[in-house]
Amino acid sequence: MELIIIGEAVQKSLIDPFNRKIEYVRVSVTDKCNYRCNYCMPERGVHPEGHHSDYLSYDEMARLIKIFVNLGVAKIRLTGGEPLVRKGLASFVARIHSFDGLEDISLSTNAHYLEREAKALKQAGIHRVNVSIDSLKPKRFNLITRGGDLSNVLAGVDKALEVGLNPVKFNMVVMRGTNDDEIEAMVDYGLAKGVEVRFIETMPIGPAGVSMMDQHYSAAKILQRIQQHVGKDLILSTGKTHDGPSKNFKIAGTQTRIGVISAVSQHFCESCNRVRLTAKGVLALCLGQENSVDLRTPLRQGVTDAVLEQLIINAILKKPERHFFNENVHNIEFRQMVELGG
Ligand code: 5AD
Ligand code: SF4
Repeated sequence: MELIIIGEAVQKSLIDPFNRKIEYVRVSVTDKCNYRCNYCMPERGVHPEGHHSDYLSYDEMARLIKIFVNLGVAKIRLTGGEPLVRKGLASFVARIHSFDGLEDISLSTNAHYLEREAKALKQAGIHRVNVSIDSLKPKRFNLITRGGDLSNVLAGVDKALEVGLNPVKFNMVVMRGTNDDEIEAMVDYGLAKGVEVRFIETMPIGPAGVSMMDQHYSAAKILQRIQQHVGKDLILSTGKTHDGPSKNFKIAGTQTRIGVISAVSQHFCESCNRVRLTAKGVLALCLGQENSVDLRTPLRQGVTDAVLEQLIINAILKKPERHFFNENVHNIEFRQMVELGG
């Protein structure tokens, strides 16, 4: 057998023990948020709050992202907390946008500050945004988010569409008895704006998430409701590269898609392609398991890129096969969703 090595151009990639290729990293740039959604955050925020020096600087984050990209990661999503509460985000985006091999940079936001930031973000290289929006009724929206202002959010969405962020998607966490009566209204809003709405089952992550599990509403029921409402076929649409865990359907006769994320009722771990980097530099290997590896300590001890690369390769070997949301809702009670960025 002949082995041909051409220069040093060996394409590296991150493969976990279950043969899944990791090509997507969700980077939380802050665990702070101007909202306090009831399923995500405890009322008084994350405790204990970190000191400034606990958080990775943009330089540190950029260095880690570059190493990930060299290891075959092609997609980065910036998350929070709320990413737009961290100053200088657009410049940071412009910086990582120049990394060779990074194909897609997206953002998850509550859109409160999006009207102000959308244009700069688009210019910097953000392609698409996901907006969390759980109600179209201002008072209810304010209650769920514990202080949020729906008009800011809707203005942010309009601005995002205007500056050409594409696609803009909505994420609605459906909670029985809280907002499940708005599934139809959200579909109509999506149809009117041409945005895709994704309906998410509540997940038992952190005390806030666990406390919401009695309001769990299944993806199957959500789909049934939508089908009845639109009175048209929902055509399963597969094959889009950016779908992730969302199961998507095109509403017949329209260009609009809806999606459901059945994290609890039907897990999709076998196709998981992602890990999460927290704002404090911890690599979280699974949303639903606590396996994680601290990258901040070695980074600040001054190790080389080659060492960091090896630490990341080793970390991926600890990625668990799947979560156990169904079997044990208390599995990940001490973790906060707001630190993980969804
Ligand atoms: N269950 C389901 N989704 C959640 N998110 C945050 N916490 C939870 C939870 N407990 C989602 C929000 C947001 C994304 C960042 O994470 O919908 O869109
Ligand atoms: Fe903030 Fe998003 Fe969590 Fe709501 S879901 S508290 S907007 S991070």
